[in-house]
Amino acid sequence: MKKIAPSILSADFSNMGSDIKMVENAGADWIHIDVMDGMFVPNITFGPPVIKSFRKVTALVFDVHLMIEKPERYIDDFVDAGADIITVHYEASVHLDRTIHYIKSKGIMAGVSLNPSTPVCLLKDVIADLDMVLLMSVNPGFGGQSFIENTKRKIKELVKFKTTRNSNLLIEVDGGIKESNVKEISDLGVDIIVVGSEIFQAESPGKKLRQMKRLINE
Ligand code: DX5
Ligand code: ZN
Repeated sequence: MKKIAPSILSADFSNMGSDIKMVENAGADWIHIDVMDGMFVPNITFGPPVIKSFRKVTALVFDVHLMIEKPERYIDDFVDAGADIITVHYEASVHLDRTIHYIKSKGIMAGVSLNPSTPVCLLKDVIADLDMVLLMSVNPGFGGQSFIENTKRKIKELVKFKTTRNSNLLIEVDGGIKESNVKEISDLGVDIIVVGSEIFQAESPGKKLRQMKRLINE
């Protein structure tokens, strides 16, 4: 089964608990949590104490997407906060191999994310050690942007890489995914689709989520 991970960046920040519960009840597979530091990306969101508080309302997988510089400084804090997967940006961690192994040493899954301008081939020497690759299909920082079409080419390239170097690798895509393009993107070989604004700004978020999940799994 392919998965949908609602991004709570587009949820109502004054009602996070109930928004998380609502997507869980509608069949969300994972909760995608966007951490931004105002340096790596031009926006600031929330950190470990806030994530820890989400643990009170759900046992779903916390897919923590760190859009922060030198993410290795904060791995322990995000593990303690309840992260099940930590994804760091290729562009943000100089000693990426060390960072990946450090995350895995904590007994959780390790992912690496690529900005739209970063080529997939740069992952050649770490891909065998990764649990997941997150391809950004918008420039990170904000919800509600348009899908960058070149991402489709990158997905195909990553799928080939997966076949030859790490058949267990999970492929996740994040940014600009709507009901109208979710199936096409998913069918390219994506395992987890992140969806923010399309779900949380829908008239009926639960219905939208169920519909998108149905589309990718049919
Ligand atoms: C952007 C974040 C995304 C964002 C996606 O930097 O990483 O997870 O919430 O939002 P939509 O689905 O609205 O593009
Ligand atoms: Zn994200």
